[in-house]
Amino acid sequence: MVSRPHGGRLVLRVLEGRRRERLLSEAREMPSLEVGLERAIDAEDIARGAFSPLEGFMVEDEYLSVLDRMRLPNDLPWTIPVILDASKEELRGVSVGDDLLLKYNGRPLAIVTVEDVYGWDKRVHAEKVFKTRDPGHPGVEATYRRKDLLVGGRLELIDSPPNPLEKYTLWPLETRILFKERGWRRVVAFQTRNVPHLGHEYVQKAALTFTDGLLVQPLSGWKKKGDYRDEVIVEAYKALIEHYYPKNVVVLSVLRMNMFYAGPREAVHHAIVRKNFGATHFIVGRDHAGVGDYYGPYEAWEIFKQFPDLGITPLFVREAFYCRKCGGMVNEKICPHGPEHRVKISGTRIREMLRRGERPPEYMMRPEVAEVVLGHGNPFIE
Ligand code: ADX
Repeated sequence: MVSRPHGGRLVLRVLEGRRRERLLSEAREMPSLEVGLERAIDAEDIARGAFSPLEGFMVEDEYLSVLDRMRLPNDLPWTIPVILDASKEELRGVSVGDDLLLKYNGRPLAIVTVEDVYGWDKRVHAEKVFKTRDPGHPGVEATYRRKDLLVGGRLELIDSPPNPLEKYTLWPLETRILFKERGWRRVVAFQTRNVPHLGHEYVQKAALTFTDGLLVQPLSGWKKKGDYRDEVIVEAYKALIEHYYPKNVVVLSVLRMNMFYAGPREAVHHAIVRKNFGATHFIVGRDHAGVGDYYGPYEAWEIFKQFPDLGITPLFVREAFYCRKCGGMVNEKICPHGPEHRVKISGTRIREMLRRGERPPEYMMRPEVAEVVLGHGNPFIE
């Protein structure tokens, strides 16, 4: 059986039919708040169950409980706050109990029933979520740019924000049906924000050896400058799967969700979200969701000890590297040779090579994958 949703029930809060029509016409009278793409993506994640059991943006009790205890008030694990920020001016005339229309690009996106409006301390937030207050950290920098008030309340989605990768995007209801149709009982999910290198392929295939199917989910949402563009990652994975994976054991599906670069806390968050998609196992490798040197290489493994009740099994995989003596990809548990024989598969180094127009060696990246990146005029976010 695939995993049950976090909290037991898959949340679906997408307006349809007459009710949608009615609320859309009432929305003309509602106070409104224009949001950016990041919050629009959060709203869709809530409405389509990726963030089950959340039914809306967090109220203060939930926010503080997640910040301080990494659990919702009912003790369910939850590590990354899901919050809607707004300025005092934007919320002028908005009171608890009101319905607030969220707009994206001037178009109706969702209706939030305002249950709470509260202030937050961004530095404390940064310290707890990112373990640093350094604005050089991309997640912290993004936090400091957010507005001073938070609005909590359940929401209903009117329309999805435009998604250029819609045909590759699956939501929890869809992956659950797909896994059932395929008869998969043990499904391992893989999170990524990168074009695949041999290290990624190695850990995926190692995990696949013990499971029925692999769900590869590149994120499409906010990412930092210098990361690969979403469409490049999808095309690269298509090439990899076509040439190097058996048929019918992989589902490639874009996950419309923002990155935070919050390392350990985000690793747990990523696992919870994959549980909602039906995955039973989740790969946590080296420096999962990390950036720079803010987190230790296996710090993300440690945090899972605090969550025996997560309901999805993390698969901890060591750093994969190429060993010249072994003649293949290995890790330190299975390779007896010294560091002089080993070549690190570094995503940063590969990116630098590709940026210079160089093809990385074949033991780092499949040529078909490198071809996709080199053939794309503008593969990196600027
Ligand atoms: S992440 O920010 O989404 O974690 P990335 O897409 O590079 O970045 O990583 C996806 C997953 O692969 C993470 O679980 C990460 O720890 C793992 N990973 C990346 N590189 C390696 C490697 N060389 N060996 C083992 N695991 C790796």
